[in-house]
Amino acid sequence: MSAHALLVLYGSQTGSAQDTAERIGRQAQRRRMRVRVEALDSYNVANLISESLVVFVCATTGQGDPPDNMKKFWRFLFRKSLPADSLCRLDCAVLGLGDSSYPKFNFVAKKLHKRLLLLGANMLVPVGLADDQHDLGPDGVIDPWLISFWQKTLSLYPPPAGLAPLREEDKLPPRYVFHFLDEVPDKQTEHLQTPPTPLQPFPAPLVFNQRVTHPSHFQDVRHIEFDITGSNIQYSAGDVVMMRPCNAAEDVEQFCQLLKLEPERYFTLTPTDSSTAVPARLPQPCSVRFLVEQFLDISAVPRRSFFEVLATFATNELERDKLLEFSSAQGQDALHSYCNRPRRTALEVLADFPHTTAQLSIDYLLDLFPEIQPRSFSIASSLLQHPNRIQILVAVVKYKSMLFKPRKGLCSSWLASLDPSKGDVCVPLWVKKGSLSFPQDPDTPVVMVGPGTGVAPFRSAIQERAAQGKMANVLFFGCRSESKDFYCGSEWEEKVQAGQMILVTAFSRDQEEKIYVQHRVKEQSKLLWDLIAKKNAFFYIAGNAKQMPASVCDALKEVFQKEGGMSENQAQEMLDAMEKAKRFQSETWS
Ligand code: 2AM
Repeated sequence: MSAHALLVLYGSQTGSAQDTAERIGRQAQRRRMRVRVEALDSYNVANLISESLVVFVCATTGQGDPPDNMKKFWRFLFRKSLPADSLCRLDCAVLGLGDSSYPKFNFVAKKLHKRLLLLGANMLVPVGLADDQHDLGPDGVIDPWLISFWQKTLSLYPPPAGLAPLREEDKLPPRYVFHFLDEVPDKQTEHLQTPPTPLQPFPAPLVFNQRVTHPSHFQDVRHIEFDITGSNIQYSAGDVVMMRPCNAAEDVEQFCQLLKLEPERYFTLTPTDSSTAVPARLPQPCSVRFLVEQFLDISAVPRRSFFEVLATFATNELERDKLLEFSSAQGQDALHSYCNRPRRTALEVLADFPHTTAQLSIDYLLDLFPEIQPRSFSIASSLLQHPNRIQILVAVVKYKSMLFKPRKGLCSSWLASLDPSKGDVCVPLWVKKGSLSFPQDPDTPVVMVGPGTGVAPFRSAIQERAAQGKMANVLFFGCRSESKDFYCGSEWEEKVQAGQMILVTAFSRDQEEKIYVQHRVKEQSKLLWDLIAKKNAFFYIAGNAKQMPASVCDALKEVFQKEGGMSENQAQEMLDAMEKAKRFQSETWS
């Protein structure tokens, strides 16, 4: 009997679903199956009718939306013209990755499971609903789900007779083999071109990078500007700019030293399986420097799968035991304490396991490290006020953990380190529709609550709306101190003078007691009631403070109760109705 084939299809936004899909792929290989792991949108869905065994691993993003790399599949699957029994020969299972602190928890996986049932597929196990909020993280759900999935699957698709399953410490073949070239290729293929898409971003010259908080302020916030002349990029208020950060030069150097790699060497890649493609973002031939600096995510906290692959190289007993513990379901608490809590990076882990690192085969680099994921920033400017420019506000992330070296945010630290005066500093970027949208009608007022860098999309909206003659703009801005982090203050002042906006500030630390934007919302109850109840205003919240959005919502409901004579329930209903009509929108991040 030959090996059975499993197809693992994923929809992943941040890389977690992809990592889980690849982990399932490795488990299948250990169970002696032939396996393919693919992003849903790179898979030809029309072939689904001829598959026999498929696992779907899907994240849910934002407001219950599917990740970008499964949007095409999603549209296809929900076509009305698909016959009800199209998938009656398919055995499959759905594993969802979500976060129960968001309202539409695992919406995509639940909807996919239902749809597959409707199309006649045989669902092997109930839909798995992994939750970031689980005490043990998503694995708290994934591990038991996988146990029942494998029980059921192996009963229907047993391994070929006489072949024992492979153990955790047995090495699997790498996905790619590296072929090093003896010479530097003539043609440098690493230059990216227009039009700007994730695969071909626009290399935008950086023209401005300045700290906008006082030097004595605890936080470095940057005003950064790119020139997008010739890019064909159009954007409007609420849109986001996407970019991939590079690893820091000293990390690239340390990595190359640990793995005895020469940064200036070139190589080509060959997939070891005919169904695997070379990642589209890697030029062929590619330099080691490009791979390590721009592709491999060596600066992130490694996932459990990193330890699974690393463990197969360990010959030193101590290191092997530790790595196998970190890969196991029982070792997840220990892994959390070692890695997640102190925010230890993959590079630091390699340095902690020197014997194993010395044994690593280069061919496994793409099995070990995920690709650097793009980061998004709310655009803080408008093309109507700043033609051919994109401006962003970036808080440089830096904090202490139990580890000696301070922890740094990869993208914000990288951006902050770029010096436009050095000339020719380009950042490859592209633009995506954001989740916020603003009213077209020039008379509809907008009320925006954006403390800290949450103000970015509202700066874009105010610039855009003012240029279009839409003057009914109210901004609630919060920061610690008028003299330290009231960035854009003079710009607001000018716009207030020009009658283009009303500004309400909350300086939390300029007096004894804390004053936050939600306090100001309550104080402005008459103005807000007039705008919302009588003039049909749109209300927006953006920012990263954890409790802020909920507190602002509560304040708004109090306004409705006070000025509209409503009960608590009625106020909630009014807010729900506004949300349904898109008159209440929020964009929050952590
Ligand atoms: P704080 O740091 O003094 O607590 C931008 O970060 C502003 O948001 C700061 O003034 C910060 O105040 C404030 N902020 C912090 N937590 C908040 C919350 N839960 N609600 C509203 N504003 C908050």
